[in-house]
Amino acid sequence: MSFRINSFEEYQNEYTKSVENPEQFWADKAGHFQWRKKWDKVLEWNFEKPDVKWFIGGRLNITENCLDRHLAERGDQTAIIWEPNSPNEEVRKLTYKELHEEVCRFANVLKNNGAKKGDRICIYMPMVPELAIAVLACARIGAIHSVVFGGFSFSSLADRINDAECNLVVTADGGYRGAKDIPLKVIVDEALQICPSVKKVVTLKRTGIAVNMQSGRDVWWHDEVKKATTEFVAEEMDSEDKLFILYTSGSTGKPKGVVHTIGGYMVYTAYTFQNVFQYKEAEVFWCTADVGWVTGHSYLIYGPLLSGATTLMFEGIPTFPDAGRFWSVIDKHKVNIFYTAPTAIRSLEAMGLDFVKPYKLDSLRVLGSVGEPINEEAWHWYEENIGKKNCPIVDTWWQTETGGIMISPLAGITKTKPSFATLPLPGIQPVLLDEKGNVLEGNNVEGRLCMKFPWPSIIRTTYGNHERCHDAYFSQFKGYYFTGDGCKRDENGYYRITGRVDDVIKVSGHLLGTAEIENAINEHPDIVESAVVGFQHDIKGWGIYAFVIDEHGRTDTDELKKEIIATVNKFMGAIAKPDKIQVVKGLPKTRSGKIMRRILRKIAEGDVANLGDTSTLLDPAVVDEIKLGAI
Ligand code: WT7
Repeated sequence: MSFRINSFEEYQNEYTKSVENPEQFWADKAGHFQWRKKWDKVLEWNFEKPDVKWFIGGRLNITENCLDRHLAERGDQTAIIWEPNSPNEEVRKLTYKELHEEVCRFANVLKNNGAKKGDRICIYMPMVPELAIAVLACARIGAIHSVVFGGFSFSSLADRINDAECNLVVTADGGYRGAKDIPLKVIVDEALQICPSVKKVVTLKRTGIAVNMQSGRDVWWHDEVKKATTEFVAEEMDSEDKLFILYTSGSTGKPKGVVHTIGGYMVYTAYTFQNVFQYKEAEVFWCTADVGWVTGHSYLIYGPLLSGATTLMFEGIPTFPDAGRFWSVIDKHKVNIFYTAPTAIRSLEAMGLDFVKPYKLDSLRVLGSVGEPINEEAWHWYEENIGKKNCPIVDTWWQTETGGIMISPLAGITKTKPSFATLPLPGIQPVLLDEKGNVLEGNNVEGRLCMKFPWPSIIRTTYGNHERCHDAYFSQFKGYYFTGDGCKRDENGYYRITGRVDDVIKVSGHLLGTAEIENAINEHPDIVESAVVGFQHDIKGWGIYAFVIDEHGRTDTDELKKEIIATVNKFMGAIAKPDKIQVVKGLPKTRSGKIMRRILRKIAEGDVANLGDTSTLLDPAVVDEIKLGAI
């Protein structure tokens, strides 16, 4: 039974097998891993509750599969190449043997600081190897990691820590991102004032800025590792034990803690990593995503390490010290597979080819795209100028909730079509539904993208609130997992994602809930109400347009706008900064008090001539006022 697909014909055969006998199909794939005890049953599922279990009764530790399993064969091969923010700082490389030792050592540190199986550990760190070490050390002791992106503010961090009731936080004094230093420990200290569950904080020294160390609570990474050995027998876990929680935005309320479990996530991320990218032994793989997002979990850490690959971790940003940084790193480390987001491609394209020309880029074999639709222009620019028309592009569609890539070409195997994610991977059964939930059969159709059968890394629950998982994904269309995306299927059965159909927007590839941004804006004492919608943006994909009502009718709106941006920064983080803020006297509401976002979206798009029916509004006059002030 083979793990690898080598031709389109094999893809078709594997796909058929995966649909006809999913249990047999995935049991074969799972057999390629190291289990302490084999599973008793492959799958039980019910999409109504939902309740999905894979490899039931199986016992394992995922880090034995990421690390120990490789020691005999490739202990001296580089597991992680770390490229620092500043090109003048020294590169670090960790072999599988070294990574194994460091993970064991830090597992001991966690244990010495009171952590145990089942605990939730928050990781709020810059992109340094210790971040990967911390993640794997959690998995090694059977604790559940909850990584929070270092760009989130203290308030977002506190919400996430409290929701998961974390008892330990791993952080750093600070982090470098381009020309900026981020004072991570200061942000943690502020968050912890409202996080009673946290008993210990382990802090890595990265930037050397002065930090407060609270006695009894705060310990230094470097002190703790000195006291710890490099031996640690991995905790034996159940296949369905939780591996991690990762927060993602929804249409309403605070972010949801998406839960993934060990066995299914392991099998699926390794399977998709090797097949989508057609990874070959000893290649260097570079995923530019931060580990704070699911892409970093699945394709910077787990997928590549499970496959014995060399994974590159980059601390910095694409434009520092200049817009050629990505390309210089590719040449420097002879990267073979490069995986990034359309937003990065578009922003680098806009900087001009002079930043690309100095580099050879001849090590590249495969290019990937993830996180948002890639427009045709960016696709062609990527293929011509970076891939030199020699590298297949894999446009990979998936979500935090899916754990791994779902719809994507297999590099060099599936014929690509710009802006199409092409075909479902084996094991994935997409359907398109109309608004009433009827299945749209055949090709040349457009509808809501749903899944009718589980795959191994499907979301299991939303942490601490299973009903929310049901309501968000399994309630709109009974018996289906609903993705929240609109999608077309063309005449050849190729899928093209058209974008979100709910109240979340993808800003520079980051998923943000409009309600969440509104809540942050409303923290400003003068703002009585706000409404946020997206508008199309050349570089970011979508931009944030905020309509706000100021209680005092202030006229110094420039000042007010600055304050609003500062408020959003404080309560969410810079990624949610509104691009446009319009101060209005009222918002278009229906008689039942619901904001008519459809109208606001049109105004934000500059399409004021086609606002549609406004007669059901409580006060149609507000629309005229908003139209006049539109930015
Ligand atoms: C949403 C999920 C994929 C992991 C990182 C983002 C959009 C993602 C594509 C793509 C078009 C895409 C969808 C999806 N999306 N990949 N290749 N083409 N749209 O995970 O933050 O959970 O976002 O990103 O709208 O639902 P996420």
